[in-house]
Amino acid sequence: MKKFAFIMVLAALVGCSNAQNKKTEQNDALQQAQGSATETEQTQQETNMKALVTYFSASGVTRNAAKQVADIIGADLFEITPEQLYTDADLDWRDKQSRSTIEMNDKNSRPAIKDGGKVENLDQYEVVYVGFPIWWYTAPTIINTFIEANDFTGKTIVPFATSGGSNIKKACEDLQTAYPNYKFGEGKLLNSINKADIERWAATVK
Ligand SMILES: Cc1cc2nc3c(=O)[nH]c(=O)nc-3n(C[C@H](O)[C@H](O)[C@H](O)COP(=O)(O)O)c2cc1C
Repeated sequence: MKKFAFIMVLAALVGCSNAQNKKTEQNDALQQAQGSATETEQTQQETNMKALVTYFSASGVTRNAAKQVADIIGADLFEITPEQLYTDADLDWRDKQSRSTIEMNDKNSRPAIKDGGKVENLDQYEVVYVGFPIWWYTAPTIINTFIEANDFTGKTIVPFATSGGSNIKKACEDLQTAYPNYKFGEGKLLNSINKADIERWAATVK
């Protein structure tokens, strides 16, 4: 009888410790699940808050590219809107007297941006994509207005562009030369957009 009682007590103890083990395992699993959920939220928050896609577009092509980039990488959008919009006549590159020709012939021209072009809460972004159409093989001077209206210290500026066929190389070099104290990421011509390509490009930005 004594032996039986001892076995019962022992069984109860073992059962208890098994239940305890199970509880601990469950708690561990719960904590792990909670931990990874928090990590995912953090990563999403970081990714969402990290990048801003800014763009100037005179006739809509770069706007379309910018929207797709922002969508693919999950970034916010900011349009660089000229105070005075460009008319078709302004954009006539064959006309030596057109507004765009005059601006592009003067490296110091700084076309005004509606509301000044200052990005509110720029602090939250580490990476700022800057998109524009190629004008005379480089960036329109309104991009200079935009860069000079903001403080990009500690951030990475990533140029992208659309064009009638020219590449973005000279635009990137010109921007780097004009703003040697800012860090620039690899520029990309986005005359056609491929999701995987955009993701690869975005992943190289540091
Ligand atoms: C004034 C002006 C100059 C341009 N210069 C070039 C150029 O040097 N090389 C090029 O490939 N395309 C050039 N283009 C074509 C634009 O880069 C192209 O159409 C661009 O996709 C327009 O973008 P948007 O619709 O966002 O303004 C020029 C267009 C304009 C209006």
